[in-house]
Amino acid sequence: MPDIPEIYPVPDDFAASAAIRHDDYERLYAESVRDPDAFWGKVAERLDWDRKPTRIRDVSYDLKDFHIRWYADGELNASVNCLDRHLATRGDKTALVFEPDDPNTPAQNVTYRELHARVCKLGNALRNLGVGKGDRVTIYLPMIVDAAVAMLACARIGAIHSVVFGGFSANSIADRVCDCQSKLIITADEGLRGGKPIALKANVDAALKMPGTNTVETVLVVRHTGGAVDMQMPRDRWFDAVVDSQPDTCEPERMNAEDPLFILYTSGSTGKPKGVLHTTGGYLVFCAYTHEAVFDLKEDDVYWCTADVGWVTGHSYIVYGPLANGATAVMFEGVPNYPDFSRFWQVIDKHKVTIFYTAPTAIRALMREGDGPVKKTSRASLRLLGSVGEPINPEAWRWYFDVVGDGKRPIVDTWWQTETGGIMISPLPGATAAKPGSATKPFFGVQPAIVDANGKVLKGEAEGNLVMLDSWPGQMRTVYGDDQRFVDTYFKTYPGMYFSGDGCRRDADGYYWITGRVDDVINVSGHRIGTAEVESALVLHPKVAEAAVVGFPHDIKGQGIYAYVTLVAGEEESEELRKELVQQVRREIGPTATPDYIQWAPGLPKTRSGKIMRRILRKIAENAPDQLGDTSTLADPSVVDSLVKQRRVPD
Ligand code: WT7
Repeated sequence: MPDIPEIYPVPDDFAASAAIRHDDYERLYAESVRDPDAFWGKVAERLDWDRKPTRIRDVSYDLKDFHIRWYADGELNASVNCLDRHLATRGDKTALVFEPDDPNTPAQNVTYRELHARVCKLGNALRNLGVGKGDRVTIYLPMIVDAAVAMLACARIGAIHSVVFGGFSANSIADRVCDCQSKLIITADEGLRGGKPIALKANVDAALKMPGTNTVETVLVVRHTGGAVDMQMPRDRWFDAVVDSQPDTCEPERMNAEDPLFILYTSGSTGKPKGVLHTTGGYLVFCAYTHEAVFDLKEDDVYWCTADVGWVTGHSYIVYGPLANGATAVMFEGVPNYPDFSRFWQVIDKHKVTIFYTAPTAIRALMREGDGPVKKTSRASLRLLGSVGEPINPEAWRWYFDVVGDGKRPIVDTWWQTETGGIMISPLPGATAAKPGSATKPFFGVQPAIVDANGKVLKGEAEGNLVMLDSWPGQMRTVYGDDQRFVDTYFKTYPGMYFSGDGCRRDADGYYWITGRVDDVINVSGHRIGTAEVESALVLHPKVAEAAVVGFPHDIKGQGIYAYVTLVAGEEESEELRKELVQQVRREIGPTATPDYIQWAPGLPKTRSGKIMRRILRKIAENAPDQLGDTSTLADPSVVDSLVKQRRVPD
């Protein structure tokens, strides 16, 4: 084995044509934090404003006078910025390339002009159905162009969209609809993934039978697979029947920069998922600018982000960022291993993709299949690779670089969160030398710090918890309907700072290395799952007395879900019950929350005050029984021995 260099310099040919190069980064970064108003005021000029903002940053993290406002006197419409303003110069440019699940179904190119017309038609239809500014619309769609159309149509009329990932269950839809009191749902007959239909409309039907969902007046159903569905009139309407005949222009709603653009639910360490609220101006400025700078976007790029629009990555880096930049973005309905493990690379060749952005879990799953499926494709069009969603292990990074990128394309490992709206820590591919496994340096205007348990800011080389010392335009503004929860979750732990929930190390070169969540959130294949949510789903079963859920290292998913379940006295442990419980979680939350392993736990390790000591459960799940640490404070230390004896030992 040749020596593997720890630092991968920016490839010369990439730097030669990059917009931001070596010294530019240091200079621009220094400017951006010295005078945020000047910096972000200038960046905001990239958008079309109905009224240009004169106030830029207006933020206080002080709990006595807490507020976060950006561009507060500005007015704009997000859909106008993603569509109308490109029509004169890019009307015939492809905005979205739709690549279906089945490679034999023809792909579709949708131009900016066509996308504009489709968005306007739906905007008019929504208005006719009584949806107006500030109303909430739930979107539960597969990865089809209509998902982007639906988001932008909401933005056009000032409605707040709440996209629910197509892999979530009826229960999860109901919870989210109920929390934000949606008036209308846009769904499809079925989704299609890896050749298998997903019963989206049936899930909506089931959700709308649940309490708290009767705010929904209309369900618009896109005909996608043609699968049979139950239409309940007058509530359910076929999308095409309502939308196709509408005029193809639609007066955009003039929005204040701080008017909400969307809600996106994400898991936290306690309770039900929270509705992360993003507003119009700051969010759009931030996701458009980061998209251009981090991906070194050029007019001719064909950009492909493999995320689903159900996650924030799809919002910021499939829909809003790329379209605000007038880019061509690929929307892929399918999965990496269908019809075979070459699919990603074939799609790259088919559409001449130049920028490819995916998740470590996909890279690891494909790496396991060897180099063959990659090497039989050309990938000659590629010039840049990206990674997002969880820490990428150096081994996967190197495979991505050497095999997928043929050792010559830079990789941007982008750290951010649903809450941050856009990329916060990442290399700039023409400026930052990479280190495999490090998200490297903060983006312009972003001021990360590492604090110890007492909130003391650590200097130089350090390890601790990752916070942000100041705001950035894409920051979430609140938890929908629960301002207090917003402040409590993010600003109470370390007063005066935003707490990310992640652990982090900074090396001697000032590079940041994210070490993973430090709260009770598990990152499964880049999807956030709260341990409390899985526990609630388990204890709903009549035979379950108690459940405790922890994450454990998983080769492909990054983290897996390990559940300890205590049965009600007298109930029998059985394989059948185990399967039932797995089904129960899938039904309550969705397949992403499927427990990887359920261990029967006659007792759980608790302190004398009754608090479950998860640290111990994590070590047992990691198969590291020699690292349990001090167990003397437990009410009954003997429960640990029996859990250790019956732990899952990976083969
Ligand atoms: C959590 C946020 C970022 C959009 C998709 C996930 C982890 C994300 C990285 C990265 C290390 C990462 C963090 C973060 N994470 N990207 N490049 N390196 N960790 O958004 O569902 O809100 O999850 O994902 O733990 O807190 P999300």
